[in-house]
Amino acid sequence: MSELCRNIQVVDGILVSTNCDAATLRSALNYQAQEGDIFLAVYPKSGTTWMQIILYTLMNNGEAFDDNMTEYFARTPFLELVGETGLKNMHRPCAIKTHLPLNRVSHHENAKYICVVRNPKDVCVSYYHFLLGFTNEAPTQTSFDAFFEAFINGNVHFGDYFEHLHSVWQHRENPNVFLTSYEEMKRDLPGVIRRVAQFMNIELTDHLLERIATYSSFNYMKERFQKAYATQANIALSNEAVDAPLPTDRKSLLMCDRCVLVREGTVGSWSANMSEEQAQRLDKLFEEKTLDMPGVDKLFLP
Ligand code: A3P
Repeated sequence: MSELCRNIQVVDGILVSTNCDAATLRSALNYQAQEGDIFLAVYPKSGTTWMQIILYTLMNNGEAFDDNMTEYFARTPFLELVGETGLKNMHRPCAIKTHLPLNRVSHHENAKYICVVRNPKDVCVSYYHFLLGFTNEAPTQTSFDAFFEAFINGNVHFGDYFEHLHSVWQHRENPNVFLTSYEEMKRDLPGVIRRVAQFMNIELTDHLLERIATYSSFNYMKERFQKAYATQANIALSNEAVDAPLPTDRKSLLMCDRCVLVREGTVGSWSANMSEEQAQRLDKLFEEKTLDMPGVDKLFLP
């Protein structure tokens, strides 16, 4: 198994890091969706944070996220990390972020589910770089090759890419499911913002649209969000060092001081790491695994 995927445990069928608290994850899996809940269910590295910022700004009347991230975390809690109890403290309106496959997220007919998918080649490469952030390792072909094998076999945190894609695809026509792709967001961000606002029943003025587009732009997020996140991660680390109680929602930060959440932000950057042969293998796997999802490839058109 790849070095980058070594510390994996399976909790009730979900592959997660051994740093993840199993009891909290179980309580997350047991969370019963409530009327009005909004879930953001996205496989890792597919545009979760990007959509989080869009939703945050949309639900907060065009306000940018706070640099100390108190409101940001309170309004976009990470289900697997905060568990059922953590959700009691969230500030509504909020979007509950989860990397669980959609079929493992509790269903309520009056809850909403926002899903973002991304082509597997970019997800794989993005995931590789993200996980490198947890180590002090520089990227190498050997470590990428090992990670690639783990990825196509579904031996990575949060499991098999295709299982996630399948569960989203199955539910895509439910009226309370919103589906977009990273590629569509790159192609037509204002269009996606308009669609998501309509789905959320939030009136979108030109001013609000402009605010959301600004705060969720790659440059703004790279400059402001990535810096704020790294600063908060370092504060979390030093607080932990002096044994101050760390709010649950900040626990993810403990491991993330070197993690890059906003990296390249492009479609097709997989070719920097993935060989032609690997790309062909993944293309073939994609064809096999999506036989029962005709048209799914259209989601990934650049
Ligand atoms: P890359 O690593 O390919 O650059 P997630 O939030 O699900 O972990 O997804 C991370 C990916 O989304 C990273 O992809 C990151 O750079 C990209 N991303 C984050 N914010 C973005 C933005 N505003 N515009 C475009 N891509 C963005």
